[in-house]
Amino acid sequence: MKTFPFPVSIRTTRLHLRQWQDKDLAPFAALNADPEVTQFFPAPLTQEQSNTMARRCQSLIDERGWGLWAVESLQSKAFVGMIGLHIPTAPLPFAPCVEIGWRLGKEHWGNGYATEGAIAALEVAFRDIELEEVVAFTSVHNTKSEAVMQRIGMKRDEHTFAHPAVSSDNWLSQHCLYRIGKQV
Ligand SMILES: CC(C)(COP(=O)(O)OP(=O)(O)OC[C@H]1O[C@@H](n2cnc3c(N)ncnc32)[C@H](O)[C@@H]1OP(=O)(O)O)[C@@H](O)C(=O)NCCC(=O)NCCS
Repeated sequence: MKTFPFPVSIRTTRLHLRQWQDKDLAPFAALNADPEVTQFFPAPLTQEQSNTMARRCQSLIDERGWGLWAVESLQSKAFVGMIGLHIPTAPLPFAPCVEIGWRLGKEHWGNGYATEGAIAALEVAFRDIELEEVVAFTSVHNTKSEAVMQRIGMKRDEHTFAHPAVSSDNWLSQHCLYRIGKQV
């Protein structure tokens, strides 16, 4: 796994995946306060929690060069959401691993942005960071996120798992796991 002494940024046809900026905090907090965007997470985030998450993403990108990037529309410059790579801290049954994830403002759903950004992030994961495998996981009820995993070529593990950070009697406990290996 390679790290870089500068923030890697990625341009796709329509998106810029880049280091976080102060102007992202307000639209990110709005997205994290939206009950539809957060319906498969334990709860919507307060502004403070959202800012903490953005700052954490920013410092991990400073540390490693890569991470969960802020996503901006190349055309409108609007903040679209977050897409990228992360080393989970929870004691997951398949750890250590690098996961790919996405979270977009509702107004940006239905355009193929998550798929476009994730394909570009996977390219960086295998070509530049030199990872052997990337995983993704989500609540078994989060069919939109699972559809992104399928569209970018990931394959579903046979077994679901109980997320260690979610209470086992919570409806969000069971998660599906997807994997993709380096394409040779
Ligand atoms: C998960 C999430 C990113 C998926 O968003 P999405 O818009 O469904 O996914 P994409 O951006 O890849 O867009 C695909 C959709 O755009 C459509 N689309 C329109 N133009 C397109 C284009 N040029 N290229 C590709 N797809 C296009 C596709 O047909 C598809 O629509 P469908 O779902 O009706 O079939 C979004 O629902 C979200 O942010 N959810 C909340 C956060 C979350 O749960 N994150 C995952 C946690 S693990």
